[in-house]
Amino acid sequence: MSAPNKSFDPVEVTTLSPEVLAGFVSEAISAISAANSLDELKEVRLAHTGDRSPLSLANREIGALPPAAKAEAGKRMGESRGAVNAALAARTQELETLRDAALLIEESVDVTTATGVRAQGGRHPLTTIQEQIADVFVALGYQLAEGPEIESEWLNFDALNIAPDHPARTMQDTFFIGSEDSGIVLRTHTSPVQIRSMLNRELPIYVICPGRVFRTDELDSTHSPVFHQVEGLVIDKGITMADLKGTLDHFAQSMFGEGIVTRLRPSYFPFTEPSAEVDLQCFVCRGTSVDNPDAPCRTCRSEGWIEWGGCGMVNPKVLVATGIDPEIYSGFAFGMGLERTLMFRHGITDMRDMVEGDVRFTRAFGLGV
Ligand code: PHE
Repeated sequence: MSAPNKSFDPVEVTTLSPEVLAGFVSEAISAISAANSLDELKEVRLAHTGDRSPLSLANREIGALPPAAKAEAGKRMGESRGAVNAALAARTQELETLRDAALLIEESVDVTTATGVRAQGGRHPLTTIQEQIADVFVALGYQLAEGPEIESEWLNFDALNIAPDHPARTMQDTFFIGSEDSGIVLRTHTSPVQIRSMLNRELPIYVICPGRVFRTDELDSTHSPVFHQVEGLVIDKGITMADLKGTLDHFAQSMFGEGIVTRLRPSYFPFTEPSAEVDLQCFVCRGTSVDNPDAPCRTCRSEGWIEWGGCGMVNPKVLVATGIDPEIYSGFAFGMGLERTLMFRHGITDMRDMVEGDVRFTRAFGLGV
């Protein structure tokens, strides 16, 4: 930049004259107040305070003025720029306030507006109970076993010592895949998993198998063509019926509460010998309703016991069929219906509630695990 020119007449630098500067300022201020958004104001700021704005261009002239004129012009320039900056700051504030207020309105949520809320589901109690049972037995050292729902007739019946002419094998009871002589059925119980376990696992065997089973029953308040069972199987040296009873009592207590026991009644299953029906001590009245008309019990119909499932010592014929020496090994098996277990545990009176998938039913069980 050149040195100040002492003979320079400041009056001739018209762009720095008070009138011209005041004109720049008033133009800037009216543009500022005309700006209706922060974006517009940004443009105005550039046009009136940027490098190429009239004020900045005038400012460049100051350097060439003699000292006295320079001080005077500098002061005027400072005041002019101050006025423009103050107007900018004030308008920025105004526009920001307007923007914030508009945003608050735009983004406000009307909490009273009806929305397409989807009802939350709940885990199905059948899923939960299968997990609970598995946990009880895994804690005893059992393994979880699974088998296919489409099963060979041999595993579902023959290997379990169920004779070819057994009535359970007919179309009236069993769903066949394809024709009746296809040899493939929908498993009618979880017991084929016993056979699969004995064929595939190392001895000793301790397995628990919850799963879905099928029979040609009509759906009504106590039957469903699709239901669930849990199968337990133990094969080891020296296993007796006392082990079976102790295991069932432990199972009953873990499902129904401290002190609840089971009772075995002689029965018949082709794959167990001896066989028994398992009854559960009524966990509501604990037997106190029996012969006590003053305090009847709806859960056990004042019988004190509830039918729970079947069990027995694995028939030696079944051990032989799966290559296990019955002279060395013995074992027990049991099987229960899970829908039944849930029905009396939760006072559910209609089987259909459990299969219809109505969320109002499952939600009552919440997310309980
Ligand atoms: N599988 C038998 C049923 O479905 C129950 C059962 C299992 C009986 C294991 C004895 C041993 O009825």
